[in-house]
Amino acid sequence: MPVTIVVGLQWGDEGKGKVVDHLTAGADAVARFSGGANAGHTVMLGGERVALHQLPSGMLRPAVQGFIGAGCVVDPVALAGEAGELSELGLGVWERLLVSTKAHLVHPAFRLMEEADESGRESGAVGTTRRGIGPAYVRKFQRLGLRLEDAAVPSALRRLSDRLLEEVSGRLSPSGEDMDRLHAETEEFLDASVRLVDRAGDVSLRLNRLLDDGGGLVAEGAQGTMLDPDHGTYPYVTCGPCVSGAACASLGIGPARVDEVVGVMKSYSTRVGNGPMPTEMGEAAAELIRERGGEYGTTTGRPRRIGWADGVLASYAARLNGCSWVALTLLDVLSGVGGLRVCSRYRLDPETEAALFETGRRMSEHEPVLEEMEGWTAGIAGETEWEALPAEARAYVERLEELVGVPVRAVSTGPAREDLIWRS
Ligand code: IMP
Repeated sequence: MPVTIVVGLQWGDEGKGKVVDHLTAGADAVARFSGGANAGHTVMLGGERVALHQLPSGMLRPAVQGFIGAGCVVDPVALAGEAGELSELGLGVWERLLVSTKAHLVHPAFRLMEEADESGRESGAVGTTRRGIGPAYVRKFQRLGLRLEDAAVPSALRRLSDRLLEEVSGRLSPSGEDMDRLHAETEEFLDASVRLVDRAGDVSLRLNRLLDDGGGLVAEGAQGTMLDPDHGTYPYVTCGPCVSGAACASLGIGPARVDEVVGVMKSYSTRVGNGPMPTEMGEAAAELIRERGGEYGTTTGRPRRIGWADGVLASYAARLNGCSWVALTLLDVLSGVGGLRVCSRYRLDPETEAALFETGRRMSEHEPVLEEMEGWTAGIAGETEWEALPAEARAYVERLEELVGVPVRAVSTGPAREDLIWRS
């Protein structure tokens, strides 16, 4: 503390929620700084599985205040639904939540726009979560967006919304059925937006005061570095920034407040949606890991693509984010998988073996050089002692640490809060 930023080092779904949960045990506030309802984090609450999409996962700790920053795009209907679900399970979050008045709202029309964008892409669909994220950011930067502040004057919000509906019906020629559904969803949207005004405020002011008073904040990133629109595998990326540098801009706090950046890395790679993934493995091996790790999208239920751990990308991501340390997750999933592989470099030009590296359009040309590593058979689920891990598991973690170039301080060995090894 005072500010710890948590980011994903791969393509999202690294298990950031569990790391945030640990860090918020000693914090006063947690803030989401990017994205919207495209994120997904499954938690167990009172024996029930709950999927969080927009609420910062650190709000599961009842004493922690929750914030959603200006850089986020908020689906007010989905957000109210999430808060309602938690409330039914006995966890009140609404009164502890403050959403920036500057955050943009995700109008239901954006989902129709996204469908059209995806099917019309020449280079193939991105494979988005269909949550209207792209159009919300596009409208923001076109200076045509709807912000939470607009909902303070309901008639003004309705006017902006009407204009959007006209545009959709003129430009996309939706079917009568689609248009009827859109009108119904729009009423829900307007209603939920106006109700959200009750939780709207100046996030920057509140956070700066909290920090001035000696409070601690965890800034929770969404998605992962390789989905960042600037630094990720463009154009197969999301639209909100995913790197640590974006946290300060979104939350309105100065960079000098930041104490630590924690990079969360899964012990293997996963990706949902399209785009390059150099270490992707064959389907037979992938299936074993997918089933054991429950690797299905929290938001869309899509099976995740599975790959070997990529030390090149992880060290790139650690550098971009300025990681202080790494939390390695899901190590237990690799028990009994057999021989493991780790990418230690890329070979681009077979003649010179030049290890050039790009994350943009040429990334699909990358050929990973995979090192073989011995696996282990003993189950390590729930292990909390480093020394108790099989020697092969320790060697695997140490090799990743060497490749990433940042200390691996925590290793997660299972879904429960306590399934965690802290290394000194
Ligand atoms: P969008 O964010 O819905 O526009 O989707 C853009 C890309 O990011 C797609 O490949 C999605 O599958 C991916 N994506 C977005 N959010 C997440 C996430 O929380 N985890 C993993 N992938 C995500």
